[in-house]
Amino acid sequence: MASCWATLLLAFVLGGVGLTLFEPARRARNLGQNCPWIVGLAFGFSAYRSRPLEVEMDALEAIHGRRSIRAYKKLPLRREVIEELLWAAVQAPTPPVSGEAPWKLCVLEGAERLASYGQRAKEYARTHQPEGQHWTWSERPEFDVFWGAPALLVICAMRGNPETRYDCCRAGQNLIVAAHALSVGSCWVGAPIPWLRSPGVSQELGIPEGYDPEVAIVVGHPAQVPPGHPRPRPDITWLAPRPVP
Ligand SMILES: Cc1cc2nc3c(=O)[nH]c(=O)nc-3n(C[C@H](O)[C@H](O)[C@H](O)COP(=O)(O)O)c2cc1C
Repeated sequence: MASCWATLLLAFVLGGVGLTLFEPARRARNLGQNCPWIVGLAFGFSAYRSRPLEVEMDALEAIHGRRSIRAYKKLPLRREVIEELLWAAVQAPTPPVSGEAPWKLCVLEGAERLASYGQRAKEYARTHQPEGQHWTWSERPEFDVFWGAPALLVICAMRGNPETRYDCCRAGQNLIVAAHALSVGSCWVGAPIPWLRSPGVSQELGIPEGYDPEVAIVVGHPAQVPPGHPRPRPDITWLAPRPVP
């Protein structure tokens, strides 16, 4: 993050200073006093926005260090970053039975819009409790379905093939690990899935025909990172052990 600010500052300074040197051109064209600085700031801002993505860790660090993020900064996530995450998602292995693209990848942007959809998803869950289950989260005032994130990524499974929902989950796991590697916060959210699949909502949001929302993941710039809670090492069963000589 520090290097982002350094890039931004440097780009602004270079843009501003460089363009100020063109003072004669400014005068000849009869442009306003502040014109070089405005152009410089625009130049600096576009340089900042198109800076390369920073990969800060290897795969194992990303797997072990990832946490579900439930507080986001009020900043949009660049589309370039979202595209990178979805590109990582589709690298997941798929069996031949699933074909090349068992999913559709959908993006919903805008923290305010998501907050209002979150209210609707919560209300839907409150009023459509399934038999034998109780979605207690829908009654907890502090439970935020989308946690203030600026974007929701929905991986939708192709209907008519039972394997495709597992394909989507494999893609989702890739996505959250890649997000962490790029310093992007993410949280896999199951809570809005019943609402996303409810009558009319898929059409309202524009989810492609023939696909069902299977995985929903919010992404954004983390505002708070919870402390890690390392899992205990797994109890491994070594199958068919070699006989002791
Ligand atoms: C299928 C699935 C559904 C989840 N649904 C929610 C959810 O609706 N809201 C939420 O805040 N977290 C949700 N989570 C995140 C889990 O609560 C979280 O992964 C778990 O507590 C472990 O924490 P960690 O991700 O920080 O390791 C979900 C995770 C999975 C895999």
